[in-house]
Amino acid sequence: MTTIIKNGTIVTADLTYKADVAVENGRISAIGPDLKGDETLDATGCYVMPGGIDPHTHLEMPFMGTYSADDFESGTRAALSGGTTMVVDFALPSPGQGLLDALQMWDNKSTRAHCDYSFHMAVTWWSEQVFNEMEAVVRQKGITTFKHFMAYKGALMVNDDEMYASFRRCAELGAIPLVHAENGDVVAELQRRLLDEGNNGPEAHAYSRPPEVEGEATNRAIMIADMAGVPLYVVHVSCEDAHEAIRRARMLGKRVWGEPLIQHLTLDESEYAHPDWDHAARRVMSPPFRDKRHQDSLWAGLASGSLSVVATDHCAFTTAQKRFGVGDFTKIPNGTGGLEDRLPMLWTHGVATGRLTPNEFVAVTSTNIAKILNCYPKKGAVLVGADADLIVWDPEKEKTIQAANQQSSIDYNVFEGHKVKGLPRFTLTRGRVAVNDGDFVGQEGHGQFVRREPNGAVNKALSSWKDLTAPRKVERTGIPASGV
Ligand code: URP
Ligand code: ZN
Ligand code: ZN
Ligand code: ZN
Repeated sequence: MTTIIKNGTIVTADLTYKADVAVENGRISAIGPDLKGDETLDATGCYVMPGGIDPHTHLEMPFMGTYSADDFESGTRAALSGGTTMVVDFALPSPGQGLLDALQMWDNKSTRAHCDYSFHMAVTWWSEQVFNEMEAVVRQKGITTFKHFMAYKGALMVNDDEMYASFRRCAELGAIPLVHAENGDVVAELQRRLLDEGNNGPEAHAYSRPPEVEGEATNRAIMIADMAGVPLYVVHVSCEDAHEAIRRARMLGKRVWGEPLIQHLTLDESEYAHPDWDHAARRVMSPPFRDKRHQDSLWAGLASGSLSVVATDHCAFTTAQKRFGVGDFTKIPNGTGGLEDRLPMLWTHGVATGRLTPNEFVAVTSTNIAKILNCYPKKGAVLVGADADLIVWDPEKEKTIQAANQQSSIDYNVFEGHKVKGLPRFTLTRGRVAVNDGDFVGQEGHGQFVRREPNGAVNKALSSWKDLTAPRKVERTGIPASGV
């Protein structure tokens, strides 16, 4: 059975051109004019683009005494509805738990996925067991990215010595470390002080995590990665302070990528001043929303290339879960949703405003991360042989975001009331139509795990450079006699 996507304009990270796309057995089988097949999807007036890849989700994640509310079923349903065709979730060992053991738990959760997925492995504690299992995670399990939390002291946080050891191990294995960059010691101290002063509402969450804690940790992680000789991916870059550290490092030739979230690009800290406690608490996430000036910095980073990927950090909690923190903001589960809204919000606030070109939109929502994660061009491409993870994007289709109509299982949406223009007419996951003009017609369990290989091009290049510039003993001709 061959499906033809007809009369559309193909938009990739580097090209825009008119052609039909043929899809067979889950892959793109031909690209060209006047293709014929068994079934036709009309793309008149639409862009045909690689499906979005969201490299930062937390589905059914145990966190802060509860579980995030969207699981792989509702989460990937939301993803596809908004044009995202692959998610990368974090397998999170509890301190003391083995990596392979944690991975088994995430394998079990993911069986209901509607779209393809991969995992990052988190390093939440350090031991010989973790060191050894990292190799199996990479070589046997096809997971080549390791996340490190520099915050959440007493829970997920790792210290600098552990981070350096893990980064060194990543370098040996050809893997890439990721960091949640906030100074967890300072955050813990600020939290204590704010609570002592009676500042216990959700607004205090933002006061406890100022841009400085993120800027400092980002710079520290970059320097530690450089000393360990490994590339670095910084998740949820929310402010100029962190962006500046990344920008500077990149200009010095360091291999660092930064990932802003759609939330930080479009929502700001005034949300925490809302008189309704629920409204403010629903927006509690780390890092918090920032002053608007930081948004300009993030948008500029995407346009100039100093920031590489737009993600969501989808970690959705219901209002009832958020209320665990009434009277103590440190107990509000951290996290917001965005899987269904990332692409429409980025198109509306990025492409329609002229901050991004359509090609840059594809780059930052799909192609760049596929290359970083070493799964390009299986994912992130419109090429013959690539997986047919595709969106037929209608730039004229509009809606107002409303929790009442969303796929996510929570009872609110942080983008509630935002008007978006630019939505999928069709979303295809490995050739299967999962969204048809706003109707979800996906299939639970259709999603497959995407295995990734280590030693991508950037790892190889950096290793060569580090070998070339490594300390070398000077072989001397004249050696003074000892004791003279
Ligand atoms: O607040 C957030 N971001 N929650 C999810 C966990 C994390 O830090 O990424
Ligand atoms: Zn984080
Ligand atoms: Zn996260
Ligand atoms: Zn808006």
